[in-house]
Amino acid sequence: MTDRELINLAIEASQKAYAPYSGFSVGAALECPEGIVFTGCNVENAALGNCICAERTALVKAVSEGRRSFRKMAVFADTSRYCMPCGTCRQMLYEFSPEMEILCAKSNGSYVSYKLKELLPNAFVLD
Ligand code: THU
Repeated sequence: MTDRELINLAIEASQKAYAPYSGFSVGAALECPEGIVFTGCNVENAALGNCICAERTALVKAVSEGRRSFRKMAVFADTSRYCMPCGTCRQMLYEFSPEMEILCAKSNGSYVSYKLKELLPNAFVLD
């Protein structure tokens, strides 16, 4: 799948966000090596600490369907800045695919690309 196609899936996913507290809707699309894609959006809660990010929604959907290896993730928010994954999401993704690529997209459709390893150098791992 092209970067643009994956970003379009993240844009579509952001339209399903449940974000009444922050008003900040995020979508993510996570691609497996076989080309299958799992999407996710952020889901908020009145108990604010319970909110889950779009990236982790996509990740837990994928892992709970038996996937443990990922090639690329696109993240989109309709904002003027690139939407970067939070620290918790970086660590959660690193567990499965430190070599994966992260595409961060913004309103005007432009995006930047990183290796997850660049976004989380010296990650915590258990021996
Ligand atoms: N959020 C995400 O879903 N992904 C990110 O990369 C950053 C933040 C969500 C969490 C919360 O629902 C809202 O955006 C504001 O922080």
